[in-house]
Amino acid sequence: MSRIPQHFIDDLMSRADIVETIGNRVPLKKAGREFKACCPFHDEKTPSFTVSPAKQFYHCFGCGAHGTALTFLMEHDHMEFVDAVEELARELGVEVPRESGGPARRPADDLYAVMDKAADFFRQQLKGNKTAVDYLRSRGLDGETAAGFGIGYAPARWDALIDHIGATEQHLRQMSACGLIIERDQGGWYDRFRDRIMFPIRDARGRTIAFGGRVMGDGEPKYLNSPETRLFHKGRELYGLYEARLALRDIPMLLVVEGYMDVVGLAQAGIRWAVATLGTATTGDHLHRLFRITDTVVFCFDGDRAGRQAAWRALESALPGLTDGRQMRFLFLPDGEDPDSLVRKEGAAEFEHRVEKAVPLSDYLLEHLQSQVDMSSLDGRARMAELARPLVGRIPEGIYRDLLIRRLAGTIGMEEDRLARILRGDRSADARFRPATRGSPAPPSARSSLVRQAIALALHHPGAAARAEIPEGLASVELKGIPLLLELLEICKDNPDIGTAGLLERWRERPEHPHLLTLAATELLVSEEVAGTVIEDTLGQIVHRAGPDRRAEDLLSKARGPGLNTDEKEELRELLARGSRTASRDHKSR
Ligand code: UTP
Ligand code: MN
Repeated sequence: MSRIPQHFIDDLMSRADIVETIGNRVPLKKAGREFKACCPFHDEKTPSFTVSPAKQFYHCFGCGAHGTALTFLMEHDHMEFVDAVEELARELGVEVPRESGGPARRPADDLYAVMDKAADFFRQQLKGNKTAVDYLRSRGLDGETAAGFGIGYAPARWDALIDHIGATEQHLRQMSACGLIIERDQGGWYDRFRDRIMFPIRDARGRTIAFGGRVMGDGEPKYLNSPETRLFHKGRELYGLYEARLALRDIPMLLVVEGYMDVVGLAQAGIRWAVATLGTATTGDHLHRLFRITDTVVFCFDGDRAGRQAAWRALESALPGLTDGRQMRFLFLPDGEDPDSLVRKEGAAEFEHRVEKAVPLSDYLLEHLQSQVDMSSLDGRARMAELARPLVGRIPEGIYRDLLIRRLAGTIGMEEDRLARILRGDRSADARFRPATRGSPAPPSARSSLVRQAIALALHHPGAAARAEIPEGLASVELKGIPLLLELLEICKDNPDIGTAGLLERWRERPEHPHLLTLAATELLVSEEVAGTVIEDTLGQIVHRAGPDRRAEDLLSKARGPGLNTDEKEELRELLARGSRTASRDHKSR
């Protein structure tokens, strides 16, 4: 693994022009929307090497060579990955950030300076504004806490910040790159944040990278946030993490809450170990960050349906990070309360008591699966094993996973070894577990092919994938490729501008990389305009076909092939007649 930050590679791939990179080395000819050349990787007379600017991807129909601009530099110029990154960065005139950090001043440094200036300005403005100070007081905030979080106030003017920082062309360009000002249609600029309480969002080094601004009354939106900028990627940042690390030398546990005010309110009550995601679901990136700092992460959610849904999503994205020694728990709050209101009402001790009683991930997982099946029937319990398979499969091997399998086995009432084999996808164990009449469970290739299509679509159209609605239940579908698909979709959602090449680079070090390259090279014949609809359709079909209809589908395909025995015929007739989930469940518990 390189020590070059992923966000830098994302950024690089979104700016790189593969036509330029390859064109500097191989004479390219325009052919429609693509470019063609005689392949530099094998001997040929007629050009079968194509470069797609839309996908930022090259492919040779002759020898099958394909990849991103970085792949090309590695293959063609025989570079190591890190050198290829350096080279591409050099071509684009940017500098590769290094962990040890050279003395060279990067353009981003100027942006950090502008953000700090803005933060200072807002803090100053708070001191002179009675309405803003009164508002914070009315919310029970003391001056010390407000100062600790650097809370400020953006004046109710269109050009307060512009005036303060200066309206030179360079300053305007920088403020705009920071998301602090907005250009008018008729020309000219105005401040993005006006008449709002300002919460600076700081990175791990304490530099201000974004702001959240709250209205003091009932205006909309309640919180206005900085847009994504070069400094700020909201799917990665956690509000309050810097402040927590500043306040505590040792962080035995981190609490993930929803809001700015929750973090601030808890800190004032003495709970300095809360952080908030910034209006997004918890991502793998978030978890990675959290677990670098602590071994125990507690998620705080509303007790309502939306809260439970968010909790389940957080659970799913956490599974790959659950190596031994890490712990994740879920705290569901009473209706209508958030951590800020609750800690005010009950006090810190009572709130901490709730945190101690939070539900461990394994309990939550088991409860959730049990609630989805009929545990009194054999088939329901078998289904629980099926639902658990993709989830358990995402947990790294180790004691944590073994213990979870043991508990699952206990709940289902099955031998641990056998369940472990089923969860690994061992078909012979599977067959022995199922009642004899059950027939072949082999999933029809049609569904796997749907998953493959969805992966290819997301790869080809990351922007559309970012906007696509993910149907409920997709994560519990037990098909090969589902975890990969989910991860792809999540990355697209968190980075809508990532592009095909950027996605491919994320997988460079992973076993699926060649497979993804092949899919990226496949012609899909789906235009960008309809891609969103096609993706949603495909996802819907995966879930739908993997659900209750699946048994009927399996039986039907068996009927068409080797034929059904008497029991199976009866089962199929019932399934088709009733066509409901209960039909397939009840039948096999006889
Ligand atoms: P809440 O509406 O729960 O706000 O949104 P809150 O944090 O409890 O704030 P107060 O107590 O009303 O002041 C939770 C989080 O969702 C994001 C913010 O990060 C907020 O803290 N959010 C909410 C927005 O980004 N924009 C909005 O308009 C609303
Ligand atoms: Mn609140």
